[in-house]
Amino acid sequence: MTEGLLTVAYIAASVLFILALGGLSHQETARRGNIYGIIGMVIALVATILGSQVASYGIVAVCMLIGATIGFIVAARVQMTAMPELVAILHSFVGLAAVLVGFANYLDPTMHFTGVDKTIHDIEIYLGVLIGAVTFTGSVIAFGKLNASITSKPIFLPARHWLNLGLGLVCIWMGMVFVGADTAASGMVPLIIMTLVAFAFGVHMVMAIGGADMPVVISMLNSYSGWAAAATGFMLSNDLLIVAGALVGSSGAILSYIMCRAMNRQFLAVIAGGFGAAEGTVVKQEGGEQREAVATSAEETAQLLKDSKSVVIVPGYGMAVAQAQHPVYEITKKLQDQGVNVRFAIHPVAGRMPGHMNVLLAEAKVPYDVVLEMDEINDDLPQTDVVLVIGANDIVNPDAQDDPASPIAGMPVLEVWKADTVIVMKRSMAAGYAGVGNPLFFKENTLMLFGDAKASVNDMLAGLAD
Ligand code: TAP
Repeated sequence: MTEGLLTVAYIAASVLFILALGGLSHQETARRGNIYGIIGMVIALVATILGSQVASYGIVAVCMLIGATIGFIVAARVQMTAMPELVAILHSFVGLAAVLVGFANYLDPTMHFTGVDKTIHDIEIYLGVLIGAVTFTGSVIAFGKLNASITSKPIFLPARHWLNLGLGLVCIWMGMVFVGADTAASGMVPLIIMTLVAFAFGVHMVMAIGGADMPVVISMLNSYSGWAAAATGFMLSNDLLIVAGALVGSSGAILSYIMCRAMNRQFLAVIAGGFGAAEGTVVKQEGGEQREAVATSAEETAQLLKDSKSVVIVPGYGMAVAQAQHPVYEITKKLQDQGVNVRFAIHPVAGRMPGHMNVLLAEAKVPYDVVLEMDEINDDLPQTDVVLVIGANDIVNPDAQDDPASPIAGMPVLEVWKADTVIVMKRSMAAGYAGVGNPLFFKENTLMLFGDAKASVNDMLAGLAD
């Protein structure tokens, strides 16, 4: 492929990536956005493979076959609830790739740079490896926290801020030694030391972050993986990788900002860690006896819904686990046929990944006009007859507003307790992801409907049919 054709292909792919991001920002256009992204990626891959830098098609073909087969099997098998873990582990691959490309590039005997060019190239390698290494280990720990093989509680080392500062200073010092090195052999020592330090920093940073801050961490690692790819693009002088990496890096940074706003948190406070550091699931009550939680049945709930004029459904992670979205939509249609105003209330961090609930509801074909964001619906909740909380917990916890000592204090929540009646559907009294108790379960107007969400919704459907 000629250089001119390669440039045209890269520009076309870049435009398609931008259109993909634009499409993905609205539910109605998300499918189209995905298609643009797929076409852009196919063009990028084909153009790169046909480019002059590829010397052996055999090796590329074998690697692509192995990678594509693994990717296909994993993507076909992954459960919707395991998507965040998959995304986290894929981020780690981007980070590791940046580290390996950085080392390979530094050791490449065909690369000859002198003077300022050498300094710039060395800085590109150093930054690419640094960001890649932090992204790699940080994402592996995030994977562990998301699939519950590592506790979601923050784990701190003593004097952790000093430790982080120390690690940062070592990286700067090693960077100066690396850039000043005359030979590849003398540059390898500081590069390896920095890589090990950056690996340790990635582990230490994400370990210290509590469950409730994981949404911000996921989007932050997403952003890092983009910058790692962009740095790799600079190392390899590949313009498309720079553009694609910068798009991922900046959109991840914007998403982190949106997540911070949704959680009412400062970005630096998230990095400092500790949010959602509850040690148990005890619910504190100011004075007086704690009211017993009151259980209800699917039949009673169905009757309550039939007698209502307005119903708000709050889906959470448990709805994803139970895969209850399809019968939930059946209930919605039944109630709408009976003249009940049914709407969905979506918290920005409901579930385990940005837009998790929107994806599930779209899969069940729930019309977008009844799906409202937290800010759009919170004011309507006091005029709502019944709120159905389906497998949600942290996002409806009143302690976020009422208890300044709560680990999730300040996080905006759906004020479901202001409705006439709240039905909370879950299997037990267990805490949610942040590990904090929820006083909502003990309020006067709350009824608990225990059981798997899908089974309970199906029982309610039967009750509605009677
Ligand atoms: P959670 O607070 O995690 O609560 C989910 C509840 O669902 C649990 O209390 C669980 O109680 C219940 N549940 C689980 N399986 C169920 C089933 N099969 N049937 C019925 N109920 C079931 O979820 P949430 O309210 O959606 O809040 C999200 C949390 O995750 C926040 O803390 C957020 O910060 C965090 N987080 C979010 C993201 C993103 S980007 N959205 C990423 C990482 C972490 P039982 O065990 O008693 O059934």
